[in-house]
Amino acid sequence: MKNLHVKIAIYLTIIFSFNMSYSQVTVTKSSSNLDKKWWKEAVIYQIYPRSFKDSNGDGVGDLKGIISKLDYIKSLGIDAVWLNPIYESPNDDNGYDISNYREIMKDFGTMEDFDVLLKGMHARGIKLIMDLVVNHSSDEHEWFKQARSSRDNKYRDYYHWWPAEKGKPTYRWSFFDVNSEAWKYDAPTNSYYLHYFSQKQPDLNWENPKLRNEVYDIMRFWLDKGIDGFRMDAFQFASKDTTWPELPKGYEKQIEKYYGKGPHLHEYLQEMNREVLSKYPNAMTVAEGAGTSPKDAMEFVDPDRKELNIAYHFESVSVGDCLSDLGLVKFKNIFSKYDEEFKDKGWLSIFLANHDQPRMINKFGSDTPEFRELSSKMLSTFVLTMRGTSFYYNGDEIGMTNAKFNSIDDYQDVDTRNKYFGLKQKGGDLSAFLEGQKQTSRENGRTPFQWDASKNAGFTTGKPWLKVNQNYTTVNAEIEENNPNSILNYFRKIVKLRKQYPVLVYGKYTLLDKENPKVFAYTRELEGKKLLVLLNFSSDSANVKTGVEFENSKIISSNYPTSTINNRSVLRPYEALIVEVK
Ligand code: GLC
Repeated sequence: MKNLHVKIAIYLTIIFSFNMSYSQVTVTKSSSNLDKKWWKEAVIYQIYPRSFKDSNGDGVGDLKGIISKLDYIKSLGIDAVWLNPIYESPNDDNGYDISNYREIMKDFGTMEDFDVLLKGMHARGIKLIMDLVVNHSSDEHEWFKQARSSRDNKYRDYYHWWPAEKGKPTYRWSFFDVNSEAWKYDAPTNSYYLHYFSQKQPDLNWENPKLRNEVYDIMRFWLDKGIDGFRMDAFQFASKDTTWPELPKGYEKQIEKYYGKGPHLHEYLQEMNREVLSKYPNAMTVAEGAGTSPKDAMEFVDPDRKELNIAYHFESVSVGDCLSDLGLVKFKNIFSKYDEEFKDKGWLSIFLANHDQPRMINKFGSDTPEFRELSSKMLSTFVLTMRGTSFYYNGDEIGMTNAKFNSIDDYQDVDTRNKYFGLKQKGGDLSAFLEGQKQTSRENGRTPFQWDASKNAGFTTGKPWLKVNQNYTTVNAEIEENNPNSILNYFRKIVKLRKQYPVLVYGKYTLLDKENPKVFAYTRELEGKKLLVLLNFSSDSANVKTGVEFENSKIISSNYPTSTINNRSVLRPYEALIVEVK
């Protein structure tokens, strides 16, 4: 009976949202992914506030800086901005260690600035998604200060503790600890506390209902201010098995499997939905990390389960140092298997970069003068033509590349620095480590935004908190703005195309020429419209066999200056074509 109701509801939604004839409805009735939502159609532009634009010359990007660039942001055609954390924080992990969830970090400005920013975005039709970092807080949060002061403090159970008289707690690996140990001894109460990330990021105890209610209040505070949703940081790790069992040797290599999806995770998400999210039906949520398989990811966003909206998995960016480590065939398979799981319900994000990744060009394309522009355009085509919400990282629209710092002194990141000093203690090969970081460090993607060719790329009049990439005189927004065929203008064009062609949002995805090691080819189909996307992920010419007849079709986008439809069984290096198939 319940199933029948669900089916009828799906039918009605489809009929009302698409106003289609009955015969068309019967073709698509199984796909609840035709249920229209703004966040499915959105292109979300991620801003790393520390590096976007500095307004006061202190070398750190700030809210006023973002405000001064709102017209630029609007000009991209994007729908929403995801802002990395801007809350009060001692900045051990660039704002992912929050000491007050209801205040703005001084480096970034004030709550008044925030209100102006939000108003300015909304006035331009841009929504704002905030980062919600509640797997852990800062050790400088009042809760933790109280909790560590005595064993019977009322905030004690907001965190995980292990009394030292019971001996050492079971070993847990930490992402950012110099010694990779997640339990840290704390003298005032002769106990250990848990930190999966840095020592200054103690994990919050989600098993405590009081803590959960505090978080729900924080969420209401921001939603009542009018923000449009949350990106849930590291949330898959929130629930813990507090019996602390021994874990198999080497488990750190599959950390999501052992730390993710704790015993009560989905209960908490459902509670969060009931208590908060269901009251703000227009707000969207995206989970950072969603288990280790498409099925796991679905559990976060299956609409019937009433948890979150968009899943964001790491398999596609965990390809090694660069795409060739994995190979394009496996890469295509990852996207295809996720799409298969999500074809009828649930929703995914599509991204190739963010603040935890090197630049997308370096990982998936090529930063050489010959191919930087072509490969960047090709990768943007990919992000904007797959099924899923496009998440696009600031700077990629102007083709920014890895910074490739030479010295540890150039790095500020707790991840790189603690790994370096941990290795140093063990007598490891530091120069090999630094060489590797040129390709993998997340600070490659965090260098200041390159606005123009003036000093510090126009980012700041002061000393930038992180070195500007040396290529700023040739790679910058001003140059891109003035060239109609630039990476930037191409990005704007494809964003527009995504709006113009709902098939790019809702259309069925089919992978073609599966075993092709160089070309990613697929179709998107909806209500009789069919687009063919051909992407050469290599720096060579490549053959492609799609089996799609498209001699009379129209190329609606190309990343080369001239393109004809003839003989498209060969693609030029990093060529990207979108073809409307007739
Ligand atoms: C997430 C963030 C990352 C941060 C970590 C700890 O993975 O994206 O930047 O360091 O969580 O909060």
